[in-house]
Amino acid sequence: MILDATAGNRTMWRTKNDPRIIYIDIERRLEIKPTIFADSRQMPFKDKTFDTIFFDPPHIWNDRGSYYIYPDAKSFQAKWQGYGKIPRYYGGDKYLTKSQLIGYIYLTAKELHRILKDDGLLWLKWNETKISIERILALFEDWIELLRIYVKSPTQTAGKHQTYWICLAKKPLKHKQSTLSTFNLNH
Ligand SMILES: C[S@@+](CC[C@H](N)C(=O)[O-])C[C@H]1O[C@@H](n2cnc3c(N)ncnc32)[C@H](O)[C@@H]1O
Repeated sequence: MILDATAGNRTMWRTKNDPRIIYIDIERRLEIKPTIFADSRQMPFKDKTFDTIFFDPPHIWNDRGSYYIYPDAKSFQAKWQGYGKIPRYYGGDKYLTKSQLIGYIYLTAKELHRILKDDGLLWLKWNETKISIERILALFEDWIELLRIYVKSPTQTAGKHQTYWICLAKKPLKHKQSTLSTFNLNH
């Protein structure tokens, strides 16, 4: 089973509705409704449910003026991606400050760790419009980076700011290990 934890209007997907993917988003006004409206910081799934998770969080904050960016249907980007008139929504209005956005990503990383299988993969998308990739990866303290893809396509990046797809795997949780050693000490 696959999760898209922040699906938006699914503009990144070439296959727009795959029965193996559960699409989550918190934004009620989306044109393409998610499978479930939910907050990615606390999702209604059991531990270790998913094999693969995609996480494409907002990259900017306090961007209330541009709720939607409607691609020009004639533009190279719209044609190439076959978007037609589906608007893109990137969630720049969801968090008012940098620390709110960072807190959101930190808590979602913890929740994704809970619901991903131990041998599962997390694909994180990030654009360095405002925050560097190293600052964001520091929030993924329970994860190891397996590989990093530097996106060069002008259709998937924002101007001169680098976009990445990062593939992460789970580290075992430290607090579970310390609980175990406490137990051993008592014997
Ligand atoms: C960069 S956009 C995702 C774009 C999407 N991948 C696409 O292809 O169109 C970020 C999304 O995160 C969603 N989001 C922000 N906070 C959220 C939360 N707490 N829970 C779930 N989704 C959230 C926003 O509503 C927005 O749709």
